[in-house]
Amino acid sequence: MRALNRRQWLQRSLLASSAVLLSSHTNLLNQAVGELKNPDHPLLRLNWNENPLGPPKSAVRAVTEALVEANRYPDFKIAALKKKLAQRHQVNEDELMITAGSTELLSLLGQHVGLQKGEILTPWPSFPTLIRFGELSGATIKKIDLNSQGVIDLEALMQAISQNTTLIFLCNPNNPPSTEVRHEDLVEFCKMAPSGVLICVDEAYIQYSEKGEAGSVVKLIRDMPNLVVCRTFSKAYGLAGLRIGYGLSQKANIDALRSRHLGFELSAGIAPVAGAMAALDDSEFLQKCIAANQKGRQILYESFDKWGVGYNRSATNFVYAKSDRFHQEVVAKLRKEEVLISQWPGIMTGHIRISIGKEQEMHQFIEAVEKHLI
Ligand SMILES: Cc1ncc(COP(=O)(O)O)c(C=O)c1O
Repeated sequence: MRALNRRQWLQRSLLASSAVLLSSHTNLLNQAVGELKNPDHPLLRLNWNENPLGPPKSAVRAVTEALVEANRYPDFKIAALKKKLAQRHQVNEDELMITAGSTELLSLLGQHVGLQKGEILTPWPSFPTLIRFGELSGATIKKIDLNSQGVIDLEALMQAISQNTTLIFLCNPNNPPSTEVRHEDLVEFCKMAPSGVLICVDEAYIQYSEKGEAGSVVKLIRDMPNLVVCRTFSKAYGLAGLRIGYGLSQKANIDALRSRHLGFELSAGIAPVAGAMAALDDSEFLQKCIAANQKGRQILYESFDKWGVGYNRSATNFVYAKSDRFHQEVVAKLRKEEVLISQWPGIMTGHIRISIGKEQEMHQFIEAVEKHLI
């Protein structure tokens, strides 16, 4: 067989990996909606960690108004959003990148490491997107177990860093375990890790964490050329369906990611950008969501205590619980009643994940569980 030149090899391997990606993505979607009587409106959608109160009305208005400019590319709108975010986070505008959900940013980072045949070090379980894209494009993945409390084991991670480590992925708070590491410990870890290793901190749920925004590591970016922070508007801001997120890092990293960005940084359209601008200004909505989430978590904790089901105290908008009493059969029965929760095979071994819904939805969930719990 004729040897492939580097370019042909790259083209073929990317085609092959996109085929695998397509099939695994389809599976995930099937798992979410397949076989439901009413997939558009299942009774309880507690499987995607969405914001049950969103989108904010202010964002809906802004999106509607933005549509009259749908004939234009979003370049100026994206620049305006960057300006706003740069002010908020005290970074320069060229230290930001706007993407179609943080998924796009995580996939770019995964490919960035994979295409140079690097190694990704990650706590496990954790959010799989960066890892999946890294692996598919050639990275080696090294997984480090959480500690006995279900929290990222920073000491074990530090010890696992080797000359081969290219990137450390730290989802904080972590999905699916729902726990967070102490802010001070995370800062110390970032500062002590070798400066030649990229550190990606995914802060998708930071607003729900104990310290909220104050617990973010964004402020380290000024002094840390190896830090990338991922953010999303899909969770506390209530805009999951619009697909918008962003990354923060020093200019050299942002430039490297931008060079591989399929959309030349125009992947977020005018509607998501307008929604994000409005949501950023709607602190009343954000505070309401955070308070409602705390209440929802509490309701769930009380039921888990009553049922004798072990769980992690959550720093997010979902709760990770032991599946001993939630056998596959129970989850399937709930699903039949259109009550959706998560159980990702190969990731949530021995556990289930329940997103926090509205207060009344949590009571509906509890009622449904009590019919089936073994
Ligand atoms: C930890 C984490 N990061 C990133 C994402 C992706 O979010 P999105 O692509 O909607 O911005 C999710 C989604 O659930 C997540 O849980």
